[in-house]
Amino acid sequence: MLINNWYVAAWSHEVTTRKPFGVRMLGCDFVLFRDAEGGVVCLSDVCCHRGGALAGGKVNNARVVCPYHGWNFDGKGNCVLIPSMGEGAPIPRRARIDSYPTQEKYGWVWAFLGDLPESERPSIPDLFPEYEDTATWHRVSYGFEAKANWMRFEENSLDTAHTTFVHQQFGAIRNPKLEVFPLEHKEWGARVARVKPAPGADQKTGEMAKLLSAERKSTQVELEFSLLGLCHRIQPTFREGMSLINFTARTPVEDKLSRAFGWQARNYLKEPQYDAERIAAIELAVREDLSVVERVRPVHTPGSLADELLVETDGMEVAFRKCCWRWAAKGWEIDRDAVERLSRNQILVIPSPARREDPKNWIHKAVPLRAASTDAN
Ligand code: FES
Ligand SMILES: [Fe+2]
Repeated sequence: MLINNWYVAAWSHEVTTRKPFGVRMLGCDFVLFRDAEGGVVCLSDVCCHRGGALAGGKVNNARVVCPYHGWNFDGKGNCVLIPSMGEGAPIPRRARIDSYPTQEKYGWVWAFLGDLPESERPSIPDLFPEYEDTATWHRVSYGFEAKANWMRFEENSLDTAHTTFVHQQFGAIRNPKLEVFPLEHKEWGARVARVKPAPGADQKTGEMAKLLSAERKSTQVELEFSLLGLCHRIQPTFREGMSLINFTARTPVEDKLSRAFGWQARNYLKEPQYDAERIAAIELAVREDLSVVERVRPVHTPGSLADELLVETDGMEVAFRKCCWRWAAKGWEIDRDAVERLSRNQILVIPSPARREDPKNWIHKAVPLRAASTDAN
C-alpha cells in the first residue's frame, strides 16, 4: 500500500459535526468529523493516552472526545484538555495524534494519507467533470468492498479482455478478439479509446435493450485511470448520444480488503424511474467481478512482469503496475512484512505533515516504509 496519496475516506454525507465517523484505510484506523465551519477533520483514531478508539467517542465543539478518559483533541490532533488533570493543567507536548489534510470532491471526503507539505501535495485529478453537469448527466451512486488486494482489484477494472468472459451483459462472447489500441500515457495514469465488439442484442435486458438496435456491431469505450487519487473512469458509448460514465475510486482498507466508491452517470433515460435497472446492472457486474478477483493468486500483484504471462491486451494493467512501482520507488510503499512484525505490540500510523516538521514528539510510531530505489523519478 502506498502513502502520500489522496484516498476517498467516506461519502460527504456520512461525516457530521455531531458524531465521529470511523474508517479504516491502509491498514490504519482514522476518525472523521466536521468542525464548526463544516470543514472535515481526519485524525488517527487511536488515542495517544491508552489507546482508546476515538470513533467510539463524541464530537463536542469541533473536538473529538475520547470515550475512555475524556481527553479532547482538536482538528489539528492536539490534545487540548485532560479532564483528570483539571482545566488549565499543562498539556504534554506529545499529547497529540496525527491529523491529515482533507478535501471534498465528487460528493466524497478525500484524505491525504502522507506527510508531504502542502507545496508538494498533488491535486485530486479532474477525472469526472460531468459531476457538476446535472442537466446532461443523471447519476446513481454505489459502493462495495472486495476481499482483494487493492492492486488486483484496480487491475480488474482496467482489464478489457475479462468483460467477455466475466460479464453476461456487456461481454461479446461471440467475438472475444480485441483490437489493440495505443495507450496515451500520463504522469500517473493512462488513457485509451477503444472500439470493441458489441454484445449480442439478446445479452442486454430491460429499457436499455429497447434503445439499442439489434444490428449494432461495436461499442466505443474510453478508459482512463489515475494512480493519483486511485480512481478511474470507464465510458462506453453505445451509439451517438447514448453513453454511461462509471467513475470509481478505490481505497485500500487492509492488505487484502479494498473499498470502492462509485458514480454511474448516464445521458439517456434520465428520469429516476430508470435508476433501479442501472443499479441492478451494476450489482450484477460487481458480483461477477468479485467472483474472479477475490480468487486471484497470488493475492498481491507480482513484483515483476515476468512472473505472469502478460499479453498485448493487458496493456492498461501493465501501465497501472508501472505507475505503482514508480510511486513505491520514491520510498512511499508501506513495508507490509515489517508492519506485520511490529504491529503485534505497538500502534503504527500513517505519518502526517506535522510529523515531518517535528518528527520526535509523538507517542505512536510511523509505519515502516520500503526504501526508495534509484529508478524513482
Ligand atoms: S485512552 Fe483516550 S483518554 Fe484515555
Ligand atoms: Fe469487470
